[in-house]
Amino acid sequence: MPTLKFAVLAGDYIGPEVMTEALRVLAHVARQENLTLAYTAADVGGAGIDRHGKALPESTLKICAEHDAILFGSVGGPKWEKLPPHEQPERAALLPLRKHFTLFANIRPGLLYRELTEASPLKTSRIPDGIDIVCIRELTGGVYFGQPKQTTTLPDGDVQAVDTMVYRRSEIERILAVAITTARARKKKLCSIDKANVLETSVLWRKTVNAYVAHHAPDLELSHMYVDNAAMQLARNPNQFDVFVTENMFGDILSDEMAVICGSLGMLSSASLGASKNSLGLPFGLYEPAGGTAPDIAGKGIANPCAQILSAALMLRFSFGLEKIATRIEAAVRKAVTSGTRTSDIAFGTDAVGTKAMADAIIAQL
Ligand code: NAD
Ligand code: IPM
Ligand code: MN
Repeated sequence: MPTLKFAVLAGDYIGPEVMTEALRVLAHVARQENLTLAYTAADVGGAGIDRHGKALPESTLKICAEHDAILFGSVGGPKWEKLPPHEQPERAALLPLRKHFTLFANIRPGLLYRELTEASPLKTSRIPDGIDIVCIRELTGGVYFGQPKQTTTLPDGDVQAVDTMVYRRSEIERILAVAITTARARKKKLCSIDKANVLETSVLWRKTVNAYVAHHAPDLELSHMYVDNAAMQLARNPNQFDVFVTENMFGDILSDEMAVICGSLGMLSSASLGASKNSLGLPFGLYEPAGGTAPDIAGKGIANPCAQILSAALMLRFSFGLEKIATRIEAAVRKAVTSGTRTSDIAFGTDAVGTKAMADAIIAQL
């Protein structure tokens, strides 16, 4: 009987609400498929600060290292916004966690079901068959991590803040390898998004992409696009992309745009992978919704649990090699949503249900 050993880091605000439902879905498939769930919950983010005085307690990091994957909720929110910036949950927990495990490849599938096109702000006539694209975001480099990163008072009394955007060729090559594998499994089309008309890092990015793809993936149809144009093209005709690959901050911004054209941030799952393998010899990964803690709707029982449930499916696929079960969960989410059970963020015209009822409908489809 296969054992699924993963760390559960639910985090803050809606994090625990949607995590509860993802765990219920996993418990259900575990019973059906004769799997053993062996997960350990640990505090992270604001919950870490409140209970241990630290957003990423050592005990949490240890639990993550001892398991085969991390199922993550989301962290941060108004309660901790007055802390010094480097102590806040996002910068003190999530970014160090990604860096610690070198989770450089963030895969975000932009999928809008055909039956759900009215939940997209785009006209149905532009996306008659829905949307099916993938964002590959570099996750451990760029302006998020480059040094120096500081605020100083200048001799003339003015104040200056610096962030530094840095990329090494090797960092670009390793994210490209993931993008190539993803593109090969789909339409063999890859678009690299940069700002090579302005940024040195983007000049290196584009040069590296051209050389690497020419050498390792001449079978792919490669294109390049500036990020400002890409933001516009995503809204104009998202399906012109199949797989796009981009640096950390561009990927952060473009993936939120991708989420909303695909209906809601509450539907966007993600997998963050690196080079390390777990005890099963499969990729160790962190799986989290792309959206945040949604403090505006937290505590009301109305958050959409689909992104968390779909992230759990990605965990089964990548870190446990359970492709069939992952696909079964994805199909159940699709069936539940398209047969009319929807949380308010994707309801548009139908009656909305709450977080728990949404998960109940998914479980009923399994
Ligand atoms: P957000 O993603 O939390 O929310 C943006 C909007 O999307 C809100 O209106 C929210 O209600 C809605 N939304 C998000 N997820 C939803 C869901 N599952 N169901 C229904 N609606 C949903 O972004 P924000 O408001 O800018 O950030 C809130 C906090 O979350 C901040 O502290 C931010 O730093 C943090 N954050 C954390 C993560 C993470 O931990 N991975 C990601 C993004 C933001
Ligand atoms: C995301 C989030 C994070 C990011 C924040 C919370 C640090 O917005 O995962 O998209 O910018 O990477
Ligand atoms: Mn983001």
